[in-house]
Amino acid sequence: MNRAVAAARAAELRVLLAYHGHRYYVLDDPEISDSEYDRLFRELVEIERTYPELCVPDSPTQRVGAAPSAAFRPVVHAQPMLSLGNVFSAQELAEFDRRVRDRLGAPEVHYVAEPKLDGLAVSIRYEDGGLVRAATRGDGVTGEDVTANVRTIRSCPLRLTGDSVPRVLEVRGEVYMPRAGFAQLNARQGERGEKLFANPRNAAAGSLRQLDPAISAQRPLRLFCYGVGEIAGGPSPASQEELLEFLERLGLPVNPDRARVAGYEGCLRYYEDLARRRAELPYEIDGVVYKVDSVAAQRMLGELSRSPRWAIAHKFPAEQAITKVCAIEVQVGRTGALTPVAVLEPVGVGGVMVSHATLHNPEELARRDVRVGDFVSVRRAGDVIPEIVAVLIERRPADAVPFRFPTECPVCGSPVVREEGVIARCAGGLVCQAQRRQTVRHFASRRALDIEGLGDKLVEQLVDSGRVRTVADLYDLKPDELLRLERMGERSAAKIIEAIEKSRRTTLARFLYALGIPLVGEATANALARHFGDLEGLMSADEAALTRVPDVGPVVAHAISAFFSEAHNRAVIDALRAAGVTWPSVERPSGGLLSGKTVVLTGTLAEMTREQAQAALEGLGAKVASSVSKRTDYVIAGADPGHKVARARELGVPVLGGAELKAWLAQAGRDPAS
Ligand code: IVH
Repeated sequence: MNRAVAAARAAELRVLLAYHGHRYYVLDDPEISDSEYDRLFRELVEIERTYPELCVPDSPTQRVGAAPSAAFRPVVHAQPMLSLGNVFSAQELAEFDRRVRDRLGAPEVHYVAEPKLDGLAVSIRYEDGGLVRAATRGDGVTGEDVTANVRTIRSCPLRLTGDSVPRVLEVRGEVYMPRAGFAQLNARQGERGEKLFANPRNAAAGSLRQLDPAISAQRPLRLFCYGVGEIAGGPSPASQEELLEFLERLGLPVNPDRARVAGYEGCLRYYEDLARRRAELPYEIDGVVYKVDSVAAQRMLGELSRSPRWAIAHKFPAEQAITKVCAIEVQVGRTGALTPVAVLEPVGVGGVMVSHATLHNPEELARRDVRVGDFVSVRRAGDVIPEIVAVLIERRPADAVPFRFPTECPVCGSPVVREEGVIARCAGGLVCQAQRRQTVRHFASRRALDIEGLGDKLVEQLVDSGRVRTVADLYDLKPDELLRLERMGERSAAKIIEAIEKSRRTTLARFLYALGIPLVGEATANALARHFGDLEGLMSADEAALTRVPDVGPVVAHAISAFFSEAHNRAVIDALRAAGVTWPSVERPSGGLLSGKTVVLTGTLAEMTREQAQAALEGLGAKVASSVSKRTDYVIAGADPGHKVARARELGVPVLGGAELKAWLAQAGRDPAS
């Protein structure tokens, strides 16, 4: 970056940081995540380090926070409230420790390690043991008077205890909201239809900065003290550890999860241990704070304008981050299911760069209304696919439009079928590149065309090499082509060719099932074969005709019709037939005793199995349906029939038993067990 570019960027960063600092510190309503803010801040620090002349006095790097809100009376801190520098890696921590040791000329330094609570810093002033004033940090020099609100925090003593109470004590600590209290508060807010808080930090800040202390009092706020400003007329602890124990003796709350550790290795062990326990802690933390233990050493090290040299925050990688949606892509899975995926401007989440997040399915996408150009917060939990938590509506570009879900498969151009529920599926199962392996595997499976020896590995090799593009290509495979594949002997090659050969003679039902038509399983394939008897009749049936098939509703009918109207699918079917795939024509009952009647089976028949009964009824020309309606002619009920009988009685549909079915069969001269 040359100087002119750097100067322009620095000016831009100052405007951005001032804006976001105001939203965060003054309005309690941040638009960007802490990690995004940190990133901008570090970028400015970096530029100012390279070009020191660009560092102006009003740069956000030159002060602690933003200006205090005018809503509360300003309070000047007796000693400024400093902030902390950050490190994000073990290496940066090692560098911090080295700088400390170099300045002190010490071979090893002891630190007190404390959880870095995610709340709001306060300074509470006690005079002669009594709480006289509490203030927020504000800009570090001047804060806001929140005495009335802090007095409502039950863990904050109104009077100090013990026998060595100092005349003046300005204690520093963090006001926070425990996870459990946060969850209860949000549940309550939800019940009352009031605004939910994004996280415990925002809830704590919003609760503390309430103009009405009665509201603060109802909020589950807590306090942990971790340091002091002015201290006079009492003992002066010689170390951070002694200081914290002293504060405890005065009746102040101090976090018990702290530890005194030796050197950089000790710090790191503490960090790793706390990171492991993080999810179980009753409060949210965003890292660890290490403080040089010895107060004498702290004095030697001194302070920078914004932060002490004797303390540092070691931040956990963010588990949520805000980034921009660059595009929305639709991926086609191996089963033809279409999944929308947001392509993100890469962002670090929980220590990993994230550039994609799943949007699950078209319905979810429409419900969330995620648009290209939107800013979103993304979450990563463990190894799961990153997810979009929220869309930042206030940052939506004016020209962003709702995403239009494709009606054609982005891979093969076939129509997209919307299944009941939430799934969208490509109807080009026989031709779609994304589905080839799965399609061939299914075609060859045992209950389909049953091609023995055509296993997963072989299908993979044949499809990936491009040799098999559709299932029809299987029928002109030559033995020497198979022999050229990895781990293929002459015997197995010959056996596979033979199995392919054998599969040419099949049944219509198996063939239909093998095609992998969306929503058509074995039972539906059987019903279709029985109903139409031949492929031509089925392929030319419209959706209305399809719904006359037992158990085929409008959704399945639509999927079947879409499949057969796809020209590529028809071409593959033609190729299969040209390759000699055939089946005997299906005998269709005509003019049967029950022709044109709709029958529903329910309960367990003593006379025959459910399948036998269904086949027998269909043999008599009946349509067997699964639910009772006005159009049902008979219900045949066995033992434990369930609600279908009640429904039939309601509608006045005759309810018969297995004996009547047997009588019909006898009348038609049929044996039920055949
Ligand atoms: S010490 C001079 N100790 O983190 C030292 N700060 O990023 C100043 N914080 O403003 C702070 N837990 O709001 C310290 N155990 C802890 C802390 C802690 C949380 C917050 C505090 C501070 C900010 C600095």
